[in-house]
Amino acid sequence: MARYEIHGGTPLNGTVTISGAKNAAVAILPAALLVSGQCRIENVPDISDVRILLSILEGMGAKIDTTEPGVVLVDCTDVTSTCPQQELVRKMRASYYLMGALLGRFGKAHVALPGGCNFASRPIDQHIKGFAALGADVEETDDYVALQPGSNGLCGNRVSLDVVSVGATVNIMLAAVLIPGQTVIENAAKEPHIVDLANFLNTMGAHVSGAGTDTVKIRGVESLKGGTYAIIPDQIEAGTYLAAAAATGGNILVKNVIPKHMECITSKLAEMGAEIIDYDDAIRIRSNGRLRHATVKTRPYPGFPTDMQAQICVCMSIASGVSRLTESVYETRFFGYCSELESMGADIQISGKTAIVTGSEKLYGATVSANDLRAGAALVIAGLAAEGTTWVKNIHYVERGYEKLIDKLTALGAQIRRIED
Ligand code: EPU
Repeated sequence: MARYEIHGGTPLNGTVTISGAKNAAVAILPAALLVSGQCRIENVPDISDVRILLSILEGMGAKIDTTEPGVVLVDCTDVTSTCPQQELVRKMRASYYLMGALLGRFGKAHVALPGGCNFASRPIDQHIKGFAALGADVEETDDYVALQPGSNGLCGNRVSLDVVSVGATVNIMLAAVLIPGQTVIENAAKEPHIVDLANFLNTMGAHVSGAGTDTVKIRGVESLKGGTYAIIPDQIEAGTYLAAAAATGGNILVKNVIPKHMECITSKLAEMGAEIIDYDDAIRIRSNGRLRHATVKTRPYPGFPTDMQAQICVCMSIASGVSRLTESVYETRFFGYCSELESMGADIQISGKTAIVTGSEKLYGATVSANDLRAGAALVIAGLAAEGTTWVKNIHYVERGYEKLIDKLTALGAQIRRIED
């Protein structure tokens, strides 16, 4: 067990460079299963979710080389297994992308149900609906999903998602790339990592169009060939540092970002009183004086991301006035961190999908526990902004998605260290 010890109260100051996007990396690495030959994937974050995924692929017979920092060479040509190692699959959420990738590559798959952050019920019925629409016979138990070609074989089809789902959009894209015919995903998710996956697949020879809109079209091709691709910067990691600067009254330059992806976050921080300056691939945030209250509702992209809900809640908890924070993607997400923030002095009343956050003058150091990745990131921000010392437990959640968190925060002047108990 390890924990973070944070001595709060120091405004963040300096420059931080954002890593490759976790949620793009965890879609693109399984996509390498569809490629004959070697993929050179650059800007890959060194985080535990990526390490688990690489172990799973290696266990299935992929050749993996991570010698060069930030680069993964992955060659899945010799993979024959359609049944990835269950214990590893259960350690993370995005391992469900192996279902789509294996269905696309081999026409069959036997994949354990995923684990990962359990801040809400996270069904996969839309993934299954997509696989079935492509002609797969699906066997779903409490433990695993098994896919094989139905009596008419696999063929492209139209799939209209009942909810906008990142995971279902990705999984259907992965499954459809090598299946004959055209697949059309309607009501698709539009997150930057969906576009990144499409760009990766197209670089390797796929025909995917419309990614980033609500209709994605995939024309099946016979094969994909190896190539080089660089993953986009992580929108949520960048948003987390911006929120940390806002909460601590800091002044930081966040480098290696796509400012367009950040608008849904920076516009709210600006509304709360932070000064935001956009550059081509960087954003400066200056926060002087107390933040102001705001009204925020999470939505699928291009709305305010649910993955920034907890971090903006910390900003609200020390802002002047009463803020309203409404969650429309995962209703139960507040429960992962609000009581922990309250133990640090925050005043949060949850009413259905909305948290009413009355700004406190200060937060105070406490011992708190991360219950999921973004909840953990928010508690770190709270610790940085608080008076006194905070200990954040259960940090394996945080390490799932933030590369070199301690090094990056320390370089910004934060007093934080990782303690191995
Ligand atoms: N949903 C269904 N049925 C499905 C799939 C989703 O009802 O088959 C519902 C969910 O319950 C939720 C909504 O649709 O209410 C959206 O879920 P989505 O499928 O988009 O979420 P996901 O793909 O499981 C990804 C990210 C999450 C992020 C969500 C929403 C990855 C690996 N994970 O999850 O990221 O919160 O999209 O943007 O891309 C994180 O990074 O901390 C994280 C949790």
